[in-house]
Amino acid sequence: MKVSPSLLSADFAHLAEELEFINASDADMLHLDVMDGVFVPNISFGFPVMKYVNKHCQKPLDVHLMIVEPQKFVAEVKDCGAEIMTVHYEACVHLNRVIQQIHDAGMKAGVSINPATPVCLLKDILQDVDLVLLMSVNPGFGGQKFISGTIEKVKELRQLIAVTGSKAIIEVDGGVNAETGAKLAEAGVDMVVAGNYVFKSEDRTAAIASLKKL
Ligand code: DX5
Ligand code: ZN
Repeated sequence: MKVSPSLLSADFAHLAEELEFINASDADMLHLDVMDGVFVPNISFGFPVMKYVNKHCQKPLDVHLMIVEPQKFVAEVKDCGAEIMTVHYEACVHLNRVIQQIHDAGMKAGVSINPATPVCLLKDILQDVDLVLLMSVNPGFGGQKFISGTIEKVKELRQLIAVTGSKAIIEVDGGVNAETGAKLAEAGVDMVVAGNYVFKSEDRTAAIASLKKL
């Protein structure tokens, strides 16, 4: 299983040390959660912080935009060195165009859906995206409880990906730990995001290893 630790749960007063830990770890990517206080009821960090993160982080950046009108910020996200830019289905009126803009800027494109959004709505965009991010909590905060219905959604998405011939990988975000991670791995997930489980653990290296081996 690939692992993308979420910086949201890190200690922002010691960002350089947190990034050194990530660089030395077995993490595959670093997940950056951008929140605008409109699409979600919280505000996290933005481009000035992410530019410095990019400067010091050796892992590819997996940027999750929980904002309205993400199409306005494609160039800024690219400037921050993102490898993947993921936007929410619920935040894009013209999703196909946004995905094209992300590709034109030279990034991989991801689409995310909230827990209440059905997987079947992705049918006509699956061919065009590199990643689908299934939210297993309502976005906005780290440390929430995993919504168990996500497992069925993963299975449904796996089938839809096969039927449509899509090359998209499946990432799941929210409440992931060794226990929920094992169920996700069995259901066919390629990559998990883990915030609290990694950064609030006493042994962070072991926490990452416990997900990597799934
Ligand atoms: C939630 C964010 C997540 C969050 C995950 O809105 O999208 O990436 O950081 O945190 P945990 O793993 O603690 O649920
Ligand atoms: Zn996220």
